[in-house]
Amino acid sequence: MAIERTFSILKPDATRRNLTGAVNAAIEEAGLRIVAQRRVRMTREQAETFYGVHRERPFFGELVESMIAAPVVVQVLEGENAIARYREVMGATNPANAADGTIRKRFALSVGENTVHGSDAPETAQVEIAQFFSGNDIVG
Ligand code: CMP
Repeated sequence: MAIERTFSILKPDATRRNLTGAVNAAIEEAGLRIVAQRRVRMTREQAETFYGVHRERPFFGELVESMIAAPVVVQVLEGENAIARYREVMGATNPANAADGTIRKRFALSVGENTVHGSDAPETAQVEIAQFFSGNDIVG
């Protein structure tokens, strides 16, 4: 199986409730390695660029506001099939539909405040990682 990297964000609802360690434990217990990590306050421009694909969606404004309301933790995760594996570990976008034991089932408050983000495909992972990390920041 292929060793991949994916991009992860622990969202403001996670940092606000001091859940960084709990979410990181779930990530590591799932066999993913945190190979880069930084706590940042996203700017409006960063959030708008990051979620640019959703610009026309009715929830775009709310999404951007929620992402800049408190610090986030941006990460690069590495492991076998890391992109799909992390999506499995996160659970469905809407916590109401998330499977038992997933991060979103355990911690998310709503579809907007859903605790974590993970890339959905290799191309997106590459773009998202590059928005926050350069080569030297990532130590596998
Ligand atoms: P994420 O995986 O970060 O990708 C886009 C985000 O948009 C998603 O998680 C949700 O937090 C958010 N989102 C998706 N659908 C809705 C919705 N109907 N209302 C509010 N936020 C949403």
